[in-house]
Amino acid sequence: MSYIVFGAGGHAKVIVDILRSCGEEIIGIMDDHCKEEAWNGLPILGGRNQIAQLLSLYPEALFVVAIGDNTTRRKIVSQLKVASVKFGTAVHPSAVVAPSVFIGDGSVIMPNSVINADTFVGEHVIVNTAATIDHDCRIEDFVHISPGVHMAGGVQIGYCAHIGIGASLIPGVRVGCDTIVGAASCVIRDLPEKVTAVGCPAKVIKNL
Ligand SMILES: CC(C)(COP(=O)(O)OP(=O)(O)OC[C@H]1O[C@@H](n2cnc3c(N)ncnc32)[C@H](O)[C@@H]1OP(=O)(O)O)[C@@H](O)C(=O)NCCC(=O)NCCS
Repeated sequence: MSYIVFGAGGHAKVIVDILRSCGEEIIGIMDDHCKEEAWNGLPILGGRNQIAQLLSLYPEALFVVAIGDNTTRRKIVSQLKVASVKFGTAVHPSAVVAPSVFIGDGSVIMPNSVINADTFVGEHVIVNTAATIDHDCRIEDFVHISPGVHMAGGVQIGYCAHIGIGASLIPGVRVGCDTIVGAASCVIRDLPEKVTAVGCPAKVIKNL
């Protein structure tokens, strides 16, 4: 497979490493702001205004939007979808993903993460370094599960939510769409949509 990675930041470095570990060909990097000719040993192919030209040159390329911020990633994906690009996934070889797990297009699964049986991972989700997601979880599109998160069985994470680094979630809890869970928080009850919740137990501190 041949990939084009969108983004030339820190998150993109990790995704490039994952694709290289998988032996995938990376055609180059798309970025709206990078003025260099190359980044991380890869050619800069241009920004979003070059998308039609890139698709005519590389009609079979799979795109991965390597932007950590959920809202920005979602906007870029929706613009690329208008141009009918195809999205690929990137799963690091050290990740342990049960055969019954579904992973949607555009999602990235980082080193040493674990996803157990019958979990559903939507599109353009980030399962970051060493996160663990147990059985029967449901992770909707554009969610970011930060490094070292531990999620018990049957947890549900709503569209575009962000679970902060090192947070824990007990079995069966639900986190609403666009909600942010603070670093190292412990979610023991359902959280509504569009709030920030922090602490152990996690409590709502802001409406977004
Ligand atoms: C939760 C979070 C988003 C809040 O950021 P914010 O909206 O800018 O809020 P503030 O920093 O103003 O903090 C508001 C209050 O919550 C407290 N707070 C913030 N994060 C907290 C956390 N993780 N646990 C406990 N308390 C926290 C602050 O101390 C502050 O309390 P105070 O008003 O008594 O001083 C941020 O602190 C956080 O934890 N982000 C996680 C980022 C992350 O994991 N990124 C991973 C990228 S790979």
